[in-house]
Amino acid sequence: MKRFALLISPRSKSAYFNDYIEVAKAELAWSLPDHEVEYVKIAEMDFLFLTASEEYLSMLARLSCVYGIFEQAGEKDGDQLLPLPIATDFDLHEDFIFGAKFKGKTNETLTQMLINVGLASIKYDDIAKVKLLDPMCGRATTLLWAMRYGMSSKGIEQDAKALPEIRQNVKKWCKVHKQKHQFRDGFVGGKAGKQSKGKFLDFTANDATMRVITGDSVETSSILKGDKFDLLVTDIPYGVQHFTTSKTRNPLAVLEECAQGWSDVMKKGGAIVIAFNSNIPKRRDLIAAFSDCELQVTDFSAQHRMSESIVRDVVILRKI
Ligand SMILES: C[S@@+](CC[C@H](N)C(=O)[O-])C[C@H]1O[C@@H](n2cnc3c(N)ncnc32)[C@H](O)[C@@H]1O
Repeated sequence: MKRFALLISPRSKSAYFNDYIEVAKAELAWSLPDHEVEYVKIAEMDFLFLTASEEYLSMLARLSCVYGIFEQAGEKDGDQLLPLPIATDFDLHEDFIFGAKFKGKTNETLTQMLINVGLASIKYDDIAKVKLLDPMCGRATTLLWAMRYGMSSKGIEQDAKALPEIRQNVKKWCKVHKQKHQFRDGFVGGKAGKQSKGKFLDFTANDATMRVITGDSVETSSILKGDKFDLLVTDIPYGVQHFTTSKTRNPLAVLEECAQGWSDVMKKGGAIVIAFNSNIPKRRDLIAAFSDCELQVTDFSAQHRMSESIVRDVVILRKI
């Protein structure tokens, strides 16, 4: 056992504003339960201290809130912090995720946190075999993160412009970072539907593939044709900027229509992780939308205020 000090990343501050310490604690507690955690501020640096086995170091290094890890040492009262040479060993350059800025992009640090708490909610031996779905994937922030972790993934997005924009973005970073890759286009079911429905783009690099499909998430089951997933990670519209396919800003109606289809594509023991604006819908209403879908509600929460109209939270549901 060693005494570790996790330096909280400045990126967490821009993701969660005033609530960044609480969110960092929530991510850590979910990923490493039953460990006492102490918050300490030294100058402008925020640390979470904990005593843990060294075997957890690589997992701790991949927490979205972590900027660096130190070991507490020193003969007198443990008053020295020694930086540890930790490696995250991600498969793809971070520019693929952080490089592009576009309207409606989900915060990159939040997206990594959603994946981490999802992984901590399921059992797996080999991360390369974990399959992830983002059924409202926008410009693929979640799918690119999945690829960095070495997972294959699929995404569904209603906006037909997403596919060419994702291709352009990914192509640019492949060129900049000399990343070997392949693209493949096609249609699920073999031919195009109205407004490019069913059109897909595959991006393969380092033995992982992400597929983005143009379509309506309400039709998740039929779009994915029997495919099953370990993780579903998604950031649903906040009821402020994005319209759903039914042309309303309240995402609850579309969520109610999506719920059974999302549950049907999950493997037993898999986890659904949803980030949402808890002003619209309320947490209890979101959970109620999934009440008849063979899912168990967990008590994970990471509520944080983003603006006057957005208080983001995260719900995790397990497939039983
Ligand atoms: C908060 S954004 C997700 C952004 C994404 N994580 C990213 O960083 O690019 C929500 C997305 O859900 C999409 N969406 C809303 N309703 C949908 C539906 N019924 N089917 C598919 N996509 C939908 C919106 O077009 C929007 O891109």
